Amino acid sequence: MKKIITGITTTGTITLGNYIGAIKPMLDLQNDNEMFMFIADLHALVTPSDAKDLRLRISNASAIYFACGFDPKRTTVFIQSEVPAHTQLAWILNCHTTIGELSRMTQFKDKSAKKSSNGTETVPTGLLTYPTLMAADILLYDIDLVPVGKDQKQHIELTRNIATRMNNKYGKDLFTLPKEYTNDVTAKIMDLQDPTKKMSKSSDNQKSFISLLDKPEVARKKINSSVTDSENLIKYDPVNKPGVSNLITIYSALKNEKIDDVVKHFDGKNYGVLKSEVADVVCELLENIQTKFNTLVGTKELRDLLDRGKQRATEISNKKLKLINEKIGL
Ligand code: TYM
Repeated sequence: MKKIITGITTTGTITLGNYIGAIKPMLDLQNDNEMFMFIADLHALVTPSDAKDLRLRISNASAIYFACGFDPKRTTVFIQSEVPAHTQLAWILNCHTTIGELSRMTQFKDKSAKKSSNGTETVPTGLLTYPTLMAADILLYDIDLVPVGKDQKQHIELTRNIATRMNNKYGKDLFTLPKEYTNDVTAKIMDLQDPTKKMSKSSDNQKSFISLLDKPEVARKKINSSVTDSENLIKYDPVNKPGVSNLITIYSALKNEKIDDVVKHFDGKNYGVLKSEVADVVCELLENIQTKFNTLVGTKELRDLLDRGKQRATEISNKKLKLINEKIGL
């Protein structure tokens, strides 16, 4: 039995990319492992937003998690900001991490370049220290595996580096070294309008991504108008046919079928058929999630479930933090 954690930021809506890259692998591992799934609302503060909007996104995300199928008996589901040990350990980790290694993170380089053309004056410090909070999320629970999409792999590597450094200094049993858990094919679902880019909730073009809360007919339209190519040949070739390959990947992930089998299934068919069948599986997923979401969102039942998660996560993380404090001399 392994200990497994992942989180999703509440900077926007939860997308089909988040589902296939992080939620689905967690659900697949749920029955045989000790699981932690949290809402990374503190990470979301890095992107400025209105308090009311943020609160709504946190509430929606928590209802979506349970609607996707997390079972509170098997998975501890909690909100990051409700478990104070995360920020406390993040500070300790900040003091054991250099500005050099944080500023080499690809996500920091990309996002800070977008925010500022003249140095770092308008770049929030949280963007730089984002990975140390992420490392704290993981190291507090002695995690073995972290299911993430490709874009987060570098942050897991940094977590291992910080943990190794601190184990060398304070004792090998301080931190468990986590590994990322990534499926190379499904770890990067692409933008529907520009399939050379990752599907992202922060895209300005609503047609680029599918939100788990999109009405099924809206999602169907987005898939039907997704960018492919003019060859009309259904083949898995992410370099030369990124749009078609992305649709094949989505179908393969949601149907639990191998890419080769999916390609055989669509052999000789045209793009219209591919899009229509991909839309069918996506719409079925959205309908299932949204039916459960609507019964849960804003209810006392949901708050009770989150309180259970908060209590368990607090117990485990406080115990770990106490041990860390002792070892480092606090
Ligand atoms: P976030 O919110 O950007 O994304 C959540 C998860 O979804 C994956 N993902 C994708 N996977 C496949 N295709 C895509 N198009 C796609 N877009 C996003 C991401 O790789 C991620 O796994 N920093 C994290 C949240 C976090 C976290 C953690 C994760 C905070 N603390 C501790 C694991 C462990 C993030 O920004 O995720």
